[in-house]
Amino acid sequence: MSPSVPDVAPVRIDVGSRTGTYPVQIAVATAARLPALLDEVRLPQRRFIVSNPTVWRFHSSAFADVSGEEPILIPDGERFKQLQTVSRIYDALLRARADRASAIVAVGGGVVGDIGGFAAATYLRGIPVVQVPTTLLAQVDSAIGGKVGVNHSMGKNLIGAFHAPAMVAIDPELLATLPRREFRAGLYEVIKYGVIASRPLFDRVSASMAALFARDPASLVPVIADSCAIKASVVEQDERETGLRRTLNFGHTAGHALEAVTRYRRFRHGEAVAYGMLLAADIAVTRGTMLEDDRSALAALITQMGPLPAVTDLSLSQTMEAIGRDKKIVAGKLHFVLPRSIGTCEVVSDVTEEEILRALENLGLTAA
Ligand SMILES: NC(=O)c1ccc[n+]([C@@H]2O[C@H](COP(=O)([O-])OP(=O)(O)OC[C@H]3O[C@@H](n4cnc5c(N)ncnc54)[C@H](O)[C@@H]3O)[C@@H](O)[C@H]2O)c1
Ligand SMILES: [Zn+2]
Repeated sequence: MSPSVPDVAPVRIDVGSRTGTYPVQIAVATAARLPALLDEVRLPQRRFIVSNPTVWRFHSSAFADVSGEEPILIPDGERFKQLQTVSRIYDALLRARADRASAIVAVGGGVVGDIGGFAAATYLRGIPVVQVPTTLLAQVDSAIGGKVGVNHSMGKNLIGAFHAPAMVAIDPELLATLPRREFRAGLYEVIKYGVIASRPLFDRVSASMAALFARDPASLVPVIADSCAIKASVVEQDERETGLRRTLNFGHTAGHALEAVTRYRRFRHGEAVAYGMLLAADIAVTRGTMLEDDRSALAALITQMGPLPAVTDLSLSQTMEAIGRDKKIVAGKLHFVLPRSIGTCEVVSDVTEEEILRALENLGLTAA
């Protein structure tokens, strides 16, 4: 190990999926070790990197030894998460005569991971993909679980597949260049894992907030590892989201609605989820199924992370309507994840419109 590499123990988590078990490797300098790691999982030798110009500008040198092929760069942004972009990846693969002994290495945030993964799931009926997530959100959430896909003009993530990666390689040092707001947005998802499954993780985020924002690898590795372990254990038990995987939607029912009513322009996804978590905690406290102390601990941690975009001007009725349109409604029932404490939660299907309305008002929504 070179002297510049901080002494942080690497973590490996094995995730079981229907199509086999894959490793999630979390360590400082994973990017530099990637060629060896890819050989270890016997990834086919023709390796095509899919990335975007933003990520590639910062980090291409870290991946110089991964592939002899020209990288396939797709435009940066959620609005390019569509079939046309997938088509451009097919074009590049076909031009390079990529065959079944080829693989995709997706280097980027959740958008690159979802698009690159979908291209891999479908090219020649499926070639392997390795996920190399470069945002905190992608490292703790989207790179694990095998969900890949793109948006449709009718809605987000409507076209997709399950395609488990051959490996997920997580290098916390890649986060050094991530804009602070993107980093913070990912941290709300970490807090989500803490609330649904781990008080120690929740407390660790609170205690090491400054070091995390400074992107200190020694602080990041355990927080990322705990988050990945929670996501991995949930998707392992419930790969196709029938029961347990729903708990990962904590904060997302209202969060998605807030994103939709602001046309995905005001909030980073995680910021909307932060509001959604506050709303769910409020409902749980009013029902008497969570202690006020736990709700205020969550509110304090979210406040500690800095201000969220305003919600006071948003329409109550439009937001209610958007909650009613949530795609997670099954057989007419809205499933709501409510925390029971910091570290435990439950899925309920009897949350009433009145409860949601009152909680939205408590968040500060006032306009009719
Ligand atoms: N598949 C799943 O299970 C799953 C789960 C959650 C979210 N998602 C999807 O993930 C997407 C959101 O992902 P995201 O939040 O990572 O957004 P993103 O991929 O758009 O990345 C955010 C921004 O950060 C830039 N960036 C990425 N890495 C960087 C780095 N290291 N340094 C500097 N800039 C960097 C990107 O180019 C982009 O501009 C959504 O499309 C969402 O649907 C998928
Ligand atoms: Zn989310």
